[in-house]
Amino acid sequence: MSATAKLEDLEKELLAAVAAAGDDARLEEIRVAALGKKGSVSELMKGLGAMDADQRKVMGPALNGLKMTVGEAISARRQSLHDVVLEARIATETIDVTLPARPEQAGTVHPVSQVLDEVIQIFGDMGFAVAEGPHIETDFYNFTALNIPPEHPARQEHDTFYFNEREDGSRMVLRTHTSPVQIRTMENQEPPIRIIAPGRTFRCDSDQTHTPMFHQIEGLVIDEETHLGHLKWCLEEFCKAFFEVDELKMRFRSSHFPFTEPSMEVDIGCSWEDGQVKIGAGDDWLEILGSGVVHPNVIAAGGLDPERYQGFAFGVGLDRLAMLKYGIPDLRAFFEADLRWLRHYGFASLDVPTLAGGLTR
Ligand code: DAH
Repeated sequence: MSATAKLEDLEKELLAAVAAAGDDARLEEIRVAALGKKGSVSELMKGLGAMDADQRKVMGPALNGLKMTVGEAISARRQSLHDVVLEARIATETIDVTLPARPEQAGTVHPVSQVLDEVIQIFGDMGFAVAEGPHIETDFYNFTALNIPPEHPARQEHDTFYFNEREDGSRMVLRTHTSPVQIRTMENQEPPIRIIAPGRTFRCDSDQTHTPMFHQIEGLVIDEETHLGHLKWCLEEFCKAFFEVDELKMRFRSSHFPFTEPSMEVDIGCSWEDGQVKIGAGDDWLEILGSGVVHPNVIAAGGLDPERYQGFAFGVGLDRLAMLKYGIPDLRAFFEADLRWLRHYGFASLDVPTLAGGLTR
């Protein structure tokens, strides 16, 4: 048998062994036995030096070819064995989503998410759509378009997080309120407009009732005849539904916001019992939101004709609503991701708030 015929036999033998290997360990055995330092192929290569030039010209490339072929076969087999293992794992690791959740493993819904669902449910029922805007805003949307020009003192009150200056000297901000969504909505939608815009807002502030990131809900209604009376009704209905009380003492207190005229802050009646606040009755007041009739400058900044369109807006602190309704004392704990806190204040994940079924479970 010629030397090359022997090589061909060896190649067949090795490839058959590789094809038959059932796991990584067996493949490694074959590799060592053929290509390892003392392997059959390596031993043959050592013999090259003793060959004459003509023989070497034939056997050199043949042996190198064998070495490559076997090496490649081993890698390919290894890959296909891994694929098989993976496929088997994927096939067995199915999750039966029709099984009921195991109570000991069920997650809970964060109070902010719960309260957001409740609020959307209530305003959705009144015909409001949900709108959204970016967290990173231009100075224009966050301030100027809302009738807060560059030198306006209201800018100081916002403890704004500014980004570094851009080449043109302008600076982006983390939005300090959800009010910029008012402008973005007017730019993109024809009246009649009825939206709420929930989302994250940011101010450089931290204590028991302030965190650098918090949540607000903006409301905006724009059409040709909506007025202050509608605003009062709308907010009263919202508060009664949200706090789940039939009678609610409310107070509309004259205030000032650059983007509304007139502006009002809304307080709800409450009483304190053993350090716990009770909403609805009582002689104390809690401020819960800001509101007013949209300023003509704001309507114009949104690209609408203030001679023709009018409406109202409001802004509510979502976290504050959650604290009040569910008696949660410290805002900072909302965002600490402490599992014990989440278990205590969280809501069952399968109970979705509805007006028919009840908001609170
Ligand atoms: N943007 C105000 C703030 O964050 C809240 C607010 C007040 C929003 C009155 C409104 C409004 O839309 O009409 O302090």
